Amino acid sequence: VDTWLVNGQVADAVPVSDRGLAYGDGLFETIAWRGGQPRFFGLHMERLAEGCRRLGMPAPIEAQLLADMRAAAGHQQRGTARIMVTRGSGPRGYAPPPQPAPLRVVAFFPAGALVTEVALPAASVRMCRATVSVNPLLAGLKTLGRLDHVLARAEWSDPQIAEGLMRDPAGHVVCGTMSNLFAVRDGRLLTPELNRCGVRGVMRRVVMRAAQDLGIDVAEVFLSDDDIVKAEELFLTNALIGVRPVAHFEGRPYAIGPVTGALRRVLGANVEECRA
Ligand SMILES: Cc1ncc(COP(=O)(O)O)c(C=O)c1O
Repeated sequence: VDTWLVNGQVADAVPVSDRGLAYGDGLFETIAWRGGQPRFFGLHMERLAEGCRRLGMPAPIEAQLLADMRAAAGHQQRGTARIMVTRGSGPRGYAPPPQPAPLRVVAFFPAGALVTEVALPAASVRMCRATVSVNPLLAGLKTLGRLDHVLARAEWSDPQIAEGLMRDPAGHVVCGTMSNLFAVRDGRLLTPELNRCGVRGVMRRVVMRAAQDLGIDVAEVFLSDDDIVKAEELFLTNALIGVRPVAHFEGRPYAIGPVTGALRRVLGANVEECRA
């Protein structure tokens, strides 16, 4: 069963005056729980702290989040932990309360429904019409209020399609609805630069480091449709799926090539062995 804690207490509701509900005024993290521990916890906490800093709200205490996750997970070894932090309740209006009392929600979802035990098969991927909003002030953060992604994910219901790619309004390919994108061209690993929009994924960072360690040339670039069509390899990343190769994009086949293969070998297909 799923377990939810609100400010450390088992609960299934938050105050109706919460700014996370009213404005999406907050942040979240989705974390793989493996061997009774949060995987890449340090990297998730770095992004969350950076988000709190940029939104001008107090950062949650790391030890408290860890204690919440452990309480919610109990003895379960495997699953998904989700953290949501909002600026808390306030009077009507956008003005942030001068002394915010942040709300902390921690959920634990047991493995099974949301997490596969084995490596996911290579994905079939489509292109979305819905675009990613550009805002350098929020770029990179995992903010609440992800309506761009809700609209994009509403574009398909075919269970064979695992993910949809999204462009910014200028037409650069930025990400998947719930993942970061990597392409290999001429043996070089390319991933969209995320200074104006997109989420700076924890797994993206892990993959970029691993690539550097392997001596693979990696660059953050503006990716065009043409780059995607001409890519030798394509793969998607997020904290739960690890490195997931793309087998088909808009019907075009892609091979699981040497760069994707090397990264999956060092990171584990579903990043089982890797810790950060
Ligand atoms: C839009 C978007 N980009 C990237 C990611 C990947 O981030 P992470 O690797 O931290 O899971 C996600 C994760 O859900 C996402 O929703």
